[in-house]
Amino acid sequence: MIGRLNHIGIAVPDIAAAIGEYRLFYNARDITPVRDLPDQGVRVAFVNLDNTQIELIEPLGDASPIHKFLERNPKGGQHHICFEVANIHDASAALAAKGATIIGQPRIGAHGTLMVFVHPRDFHGVLIELMEPVPPASPH
Ligand code: CO
Repeated sequence: MIGRLNHIGIAVPDIAAAIGEYRLFYNARDITPVRDLPDQGVRVAFVNLDNTQIELIEPLGDASPIHKFLERNPKGGQHHICFEVANIHDASAALAAKGATIIGQPRIGAHGTLMVFVHPRDFHGVLIELMEPVPPASPH
């Protein structure tokens, strides 16, 4: 059911500093501009690698879901991993039927496609994001 690893989410206290470190230490060159997603309470940028992406996530606003994570991990840390699934509704229904805890309803995520989180207690402490892949660009 799961497809490709789409990205790994890293929570950071300062996204500009984190981008600078990926540039300085790893010579990362392909990094997207920082985007504010106020609905999700986060500010994100993606470090594009050949085979996947690193999603850098900074809390945005007082109600950000990332604040609690950064309280426990003040320097930042690995927050989630994201697998692609063909259909988010089918995938979350199948997981829920097997006893996994789906967090909320599928919604549009940072890639502009449907995503949902699965509770870390079901997966060895790892928060899992499922997302529908971004369709390939049309050939024009
Ligand atoms: Co993500």
